[in-house]
Amino acid sequence: MKIAGAVALVTGASSGIGAATARELARRGARVILAARRADLLSEQVAAITAAGGQASAIEADISDLESLPRLASQAEAVYGQVDILINNAGIHVRGKPGQIAPTDIARMVNTNLTGAILLTRLLLPPMLQRRRGAIICVASVAGNIANDSLYSGTKFGLRGYALALRRQLHSSGVSVSVVSPGYIDTPLTSYRRGRMPGPQLIANAIAGLVERPRREVVAPWWYRFPIALERAAPWLVDFGLRR
Ligand SMILES: NC(=O)c1ccc[n+]([C@@H]2O[C@H](COP(=O)([O-])OP(=O)(O)OC[C@H]3O[C@@H](n4cnc5c(N)ncnc54)[C@H](OP(=O)(O)O)[C@@H]3O)[C@@H](O)[C@H]2O)c1
Repeated sequence: MKIAGAVALVTGASSGIGAATARELARRGARVILAARRADLLSEQVAAITAAGGQASAIEADISDLESLPRLASQAEAVYGQVDILINNAGIHVRGKPGQIAPTDIARMVNTNLTGAILLTRLLLPPMLQRRRGAIICVASVAGNIANDSLYSGTKFGLRGYALALRRQLHSSGVSVSVVSPGYIDTPLTSYRRGRMPGPQLIANAIAGLVERPRREVVAPWWYRFPIALERAAPWLVDFGLRR
């Protein structure tokens, strides 16, 4: 799909990968709708895009509030008349020992990372199918390919599985579905980690590339493909490597 002139909704666009993606899509000529909970950060991103000559608008939204998603979808469609590109990026990682994460945190994580993305896709897909034009990108994770954190991996394997199957089901429909699986990226989500990590622009470029040339899945940085291949070929070796 040509990005210039298209309308893109980016969830989780107040920081990190989502903010970089919104800026990149706007730079390539899309009209961008940024959604997240923190309205102040969204306004800053919209101001930065507008100052750079792009078009953007913000919607304050909580993806984990499943009942509010029909309102988000219709608000988004009303901003520029339609949504052509959906970037399911909003995500959280509640860290904790197995069996010790509170049920409310489990529900928040599953609803944000998985159920919210599925419901929002369901809401925005029918008009895309009617126009035979659309691109849906789901931001999964290397942790959705290598099982290393039960709850986070559970949501990301789920999102990946949903997107990969939807891609097959929508074959020849005019709507593409692609997955991007980032490794560790330097964003607020990974602020607990030490050491150098690539910045979110790497993933923003990959996402924009997937809108223009859809693919099943892009893993970035590319070298995470090696541990992923090992997980598939010899999971017992990965068991050994990840043993703590
Ligand atoms: N950074 C990494 O190493 C890495 C690796 C693999 C995958 N990922 C995935 O990449 C995506 C973006 O993460 P990031 O690294 O850019 O982290 P981030 O900077 O913390 O961004 C997360 C975004 O999600 C939004 N969000 C969280 N809960 C939300 C909710 N209930 N409703 C709406 N928006 C919500 C946040 O906005 P508000 O707080 O304003 O709502 C924020 O804009 C996530 O899906 C994450 O799992 C990241």
